[in-house]
Amino acid sequence: MSESAGAVSAELGALSGEHGGHAPNARDAVRDLRPSQIREVANAGFGVPDVLPFWFGESDRVTPQFIRDAASRALADGATFYTHNLGIAPLRDALAGYVSALHGTTTLGHVAVTSAGVNALMLAAQLVAGAGDRVVAVTPLWPNLVEIPKILGAHVETVSLTYGADGWTLDLERLLAALTPGTRMLMINSPNNPTGWTMTRDEQRTVLDHCRRHGIWIVADEVYERLYYGAEGRVAPSFLDLATRDERVIAVNSFSKAWLMTGWRLGWLVAPAALMDDLGKLVEYNTSCAPSFVQQAGVVAVQEGERFTESLVADLRASRDHLVGALQTIPGVDVRAPLGAMYLFFSLPGAGRSFELCKALVREAHLGLAPGSAFGAEGEGFVRWCYACDPARLDRGVARLREFLASRTGS
Ligand SMILES: Cc1ncc(COP(=O)(O)O)c(C=O)c1O
Repeated sequence: MSESAGAVSAELGALSGEHGGHAPNARDAVRDLRPSQIREVANAGFGVPDVLPFWFGESDRVTPQFIRDAASRALADGATFYTHNLGIAPLRDALAGYVSALHGTTTLGHVAVTSAGVNALMLAAQLVAGAGDRVVAVTPLWPNLVEIPKILGAHVETVSLTYGADGWTLDLERLLAALTPGTRMLMINSPNNPTGWTMTRDEQRTVLDHCRRHGIWIVADEVYERLYYGAEGRVAPSFLDLATRDERVIAVNSFSKAWLMTGWRLGWLVAPAALMDDLGKLVEYNTSCAPSFVQQAGVVAVQEGERFTESLVADLRASRDHLVGALQTIPGVDVRAPLGAMYLFFSLPGAGRSFELCKALVREAHLGLAPGSAFGAEGEGFVRWCYACDPARLDRGVARLREFLASRTGS
């Protein structure tokens, strides 16, 4: 064998694990991540004709025209280059103004642009949590907040919301007990996906005071803050209303929900200015920057999108009420109208095994719902229905659910 052939064969041997004795595997922390049960149900629906998909967290409407036009203009003008790691100054500036109007003075130096909310969550977690750190998360919860810290080797402990006559509520004492002095980070999402639970200002104050005392970071996922139906107005209570900008609070946000920009992958973080240099390094090694023409469209969304967001929220509120009313007429369904987000998380006969139930619903009723178990063990017994679509479509879904349950119970 020639020297080079020997080298090639040695290399192939190493690749096939011949010398290492192990099959090529990802790190344990990655292999241990939970696959998405929502995806698994959705995959079961591929090829099912006329399935009504209410399983994912997005509207059935396209991004508003004025935002799409802004992106087209930016592309036509040649916005195709890398940008600053933390985002273009006009977008950081526009976001600082937007956040200031909602939550009090925030400067450009406290804002970083990200490649949507998921990337913002990853960056926030990478900034403060590492291997062996203790992280607490309030569940049921969109899985990403629980799984992301695990990728970094952190240990995640969950504190469950409780379900009762008032819908989902937080047992504050239980949460504070879990936030022990050694805890590194709290991951909390309000308004919450999947339950719609929305933290009160008093609860936020108590948690903030506690975390201040023990030096615990709060990563507040506030991507649904504008999808809020409470009496107080156009935005849900936020940790940013209470915290100064230079303490251990990082707020995660996104263009996906309030401007219907899921596929654009644009979001932002509000964080202490002292973190920004390190955050810039993390952005560099993750994505380097958000796409440049998308950022330019983001400026227009923030500056000109208020009327759109307000009308979107009015439509969502009407859809929520419509769906709650319709579901309440089905025997065995227990559903309430939550204060925020765009989901109903409700119980129904058979949901004790929600994953199996949702697969059967796709197969037999052509109805796409997300199983409660996808959001943690506490979510078992429930299913999630995203109501961000027009009421006629919701009605078709309700009719299918009614028929499916009637055929199962024989009623
Ligand atoms: C609670 C929560 N946080 C963050 C996100 C991130 O969304 P995106 O990455 O599209 O901004 C979602 C999306 O559904 C979500 O439900």
